[in-house]
Amino acid sequence: MMQRWNRKKPHFPILILLFILFIVFTILYNELNIRQINEDPDPVSRNQRASITYVKPNLAKRASEVLDRFSTCNSTREYSWRRIGWVDPSPNLGRGRVDGESCDVFSGKWVFDNRSHPLYSESECPYMSDQLACHKHGRADLLYQYWRWQPHDCNLKRWNVKEMWEKLRGKRLMFVGDSLNRGQWISMVCLLQSVIPADKRSMSPNAELTIFRAEEYNATVEFLWAPLLVESNSDDPVNHKLADRIIRPDSVTRHSSQWEHADILVFNSYLWWRQGPVKLLWSDEENGACEELDGLGAMELAMGAWADWVASKVDPQKKRVFFVTMSPTHLWSREWAPGTEGNCYNEKTPMNLEGYWGSGSDLPTMRMVDKVLARLSTKVSVLNITQLSEYRKDGHPSIYRKFWETLRPEQLANPASYSDCIHWCLPGVPDVWNEFLFHFL
Ligand SMILES: *[C@@H]1O[C@H](CO)[C@@H](O)[C@H](O)[C@H]1NC(C)=O
Ligand SMILES: *[C@@H]1O[C@H](CO)[C@@H](O)[C@H](O)[C@H]1NC(C)=O
Ligand SMILES: *[C@@H]1O[C@H](CO)[C@@H](O)[C@H](O)[C@H]1NC(C)=O
Ligand SMILES: *[C@@H]1O[C@H](CO)[C@@H](O)[C@H](O)[C@H]1NC(C)=O
Repeated sequence: MMQRWNRKKPHFPILILLFILFIVFTILYNELNIRQINEDPDPVSRNQRASITYVKPNLAKRASEVLDRFSTCNSTREYSWRRIGWVDPSPNLGRGRVDGESCDVFSGKWVFDNRSHPLYSESECPYMSDQLACHKHGRADLLYQYWRWQPHDCNLKRWNVKEMWEKLRGKRLMFVGDSLNRGQWISMVCLLQSVIPADKRSMSPNAELTIFRAEEYNATVEFLWAPLLVESNSDDPVNHKLADRIIRPDSVTRHSSQWEHADILVFNSYLWWRQGPVKLLWSDEENGACEELDGLGAMELAMGAWADWVASKVDPQKKRVFFVTMSPTHLWSREWAPGTEGNCYNEKTPMNLEGYWGSGSDLPTMRMVDKVLARLSTKVSVLNITQLSEYRKDGHPSIYRKFWETLRPEQLANPASYSDCIHWCLPGVPDVWNEFLFHFL
């Protein structure tokens, strides 16, 4: 008896100690939690936070109705605070996209270099777009074609068309996004096509998916029209000028069923979210009732649905994924030349104001995209073209492109009024975006 009691005796203080430890840990843990909540940088108020629910996107079960340009909302209500829940990719599965290079190639300056640039001639590219062929449409000053990007602390790999084709051999390279991404795709096709004999290459008719094919390399360079990444009523590549944007905020599956077969993917999305509120039609909605949300909030949902696809479907050993950051616009010359009232029209040289940032590049959008891409860093390489393209106020078509609508006399009298300060002339700025792609591939 005594012995047993003696043996048990020491257990008593241990139990008390454990109990005290438990209390201390509970208090500490609660305090940590409170601190975490207080430090959460998310600018959502307490009340809204309480009503947030998370939706799992891209479920195999498709929404009952496919969105097209005739889709309408039966009713519109306030945003329900549903968000997209997606899980970070496991870092162990990724090969890691830290490219072993400490130099930031996106930080640098434009250097006039008419020996190395342009990398092709506008008139010799049979796939050139009439919206981007500025010289053909009357632009006489051609300096915009002669600039090379020079990073501050290192050099960009020199463009080499044969080497690029070797990288693409047996592969599908696909650009996915809006008309800016389409411009980058045309730039890539123009950069690549000259070394392929005319009877050994082909271009499919313009469609949702347009394919440039080079036989001898068994390779394709494709463009998929998906301006909002998620399914939307604007997915028709030609007829998409609509008053209301309706998106399926929780599904990229319509587009991913096409892009999942590519080996190298280059995504972008930005400007289409800058046109006012967006209507959300969730996949599980059965009565056609939409919710309304501002563009940035809606883009965050779409980026979440896209990120879910990347995180769960991309094996970095087999697929390369790039995301091109926002392409800046130059709609207000007063931002770089105070006191003036124009836009990009008549701009003939890049800016030499290092760090210049215009209102066309929305900082809250950039921070949101930064956050998503940081979580995907083992699977996605960033082509951070925003800052360097900001300097190129001279790079837009302005009036030197084909316009679809007939211009009225009062427009013609004031060229700035119909100038395109959004897209980019080719050869020009998007060629350099593709030099980055070549550099990282
Ligand atoms: C390049 O530019 C310089 C200076 O403007 C000019 O003298 C030269 O002829 C140009 N060379 C080519 C190949 O266009
Ligand atoms: C061509 O490339 C595709 C992949 O894009 C591959 O499936 C096919 O086997 C290749 N064909 C030849 C002849 O190499
Ligand atoms: C909209 O409402 C009508 C009539 O109530 C219904 O027939 C239709 O299916 C609804 N639309 C959608 C997309 O649910
Ligand atoms: C892109 O570069 C800007 C600076 O120009 C930086 O603030 C931003 O975080 C970068 N974004 C990404 C996704 O790397």
